[in-house]
Amino acid sequence: MNILGIETSCDETAAAVIENGSCIHSNIVASSLKEHQKYGGIIPEIASRRQLECIHSVVEASLSEAELTLKDIDAVAVTEKPGLIGSLLVGQSFAQALSYGANKPLINVNHIQAHLYANFLFRKNQQKEQPDLPAIGLVVSGGHTSLFHVASFDKFNPIGQTRDDAAGEAFDKVARILGLGYPGGPAIDKIAKEGRKTDIKFNCANFPDTLDFSFSGIKTAVLYHHQKNYQNKNYSVADVAYAFQESVVKVLIQKCLQACDKYQCSNLLIGGGVAANSLFRDQLKSLKDNHSINVFYPEIGLCMDNAAMIAGLGYYLHRKF
Ligand code: KG4
Ligand code: ZN
Repeated sequence: MNILGIETSCDETAAAVIENGSCIHSNIVASSLKEHQKYGGIIPEIASRRQLECIHSVVEASLSEAELTLKDIDAVAVTEKPGLIGSLLVGQSFAQALSYGANKPLINVNHIQAHLYANFLFRKNQQKEQPDLPAIGLVVSGGHTSLFHVASFDKFNPIGQTRDDAAGEAFDKVARILGLGYPGGPAIDKIAKEGRKTDIKFNCANFPDTLDFSFSGIKTAVLYHHQKNYQNKNYSVADVAYAFQESVVKVLIQKCLQACDKYQCSNLLIGGGVAANSLFRDQLKSLKDNHSINVFYPEIGLCMDNAAMIAGLGYYLHRKF
């Protein structure tokens, strides 16, 4: 069964064709990111205008790369929420028109849940080990930091979330403070590799009895540290980035362990843009060795927003209903 997925929740316009819920036949992502960079963040009006311009060609490209036509598609899956309203409307309107015109079922998919589904995808001829459910799922992106107990593909039970900023948002804001540009995650990841462990300490608030997060305090701590020290002769942005990243990754790992323990679950799924972080990925590897947790995180391209994850989860929802 072939599902065409459409995703337009933020700055990207994406379309993909997935066979039987896992095999990627095409995965096209067009992004207007460059146009937002000079503003230091996403401008919703620019995002939705670009999406309106390119959605048709992105969907055509996804079919042509899969060497299929609309006739070979069994259903259309589209991001329903959450996201920028203007952007979601572009994807929704296009998908609704396509499904009506071609007489194909339409499946609405939750973007956050789909980020966790990215762990079940593989490229053609590259089948990989599939995670087992139930699992603990952590979505760490620009807009969300949320923990779930995933019993099945239609039972995502929320068990923890950020009380203020998302982890990716903190990366973006700290990068801005440090003059590293937008998006901040990849920039901090890169420069932190040149940083050293020093006595600079930033802590993320930890709510020990809950699975909640908070990243707004650490952003302010970096701001004050930067304002106080940036004129010092031996001030190093790389060392500050190192200390910030270390603290964020530490709390993400801690909460994953706490959740696995609380729910007696040894399967862990990670998703979202921050899952591309190299320190986080390294530490997740060691969870497998030191805590016998089966950890899954997608290849870097599938951590970011894409339509393959929408089509994949859409397949299961379509089969169920
Ligand atoms: O999942 P995503 O593509 O979009 C949302 O749904 O938000 O995530 C984007 C977020 C941005 O905040 C970006 O700075 C962050 O993911 N990000 C990273 C890295 N690559 C992207 N954060 C830390 N390290 C990275 N390597
Ligand atoms: Zn996302």
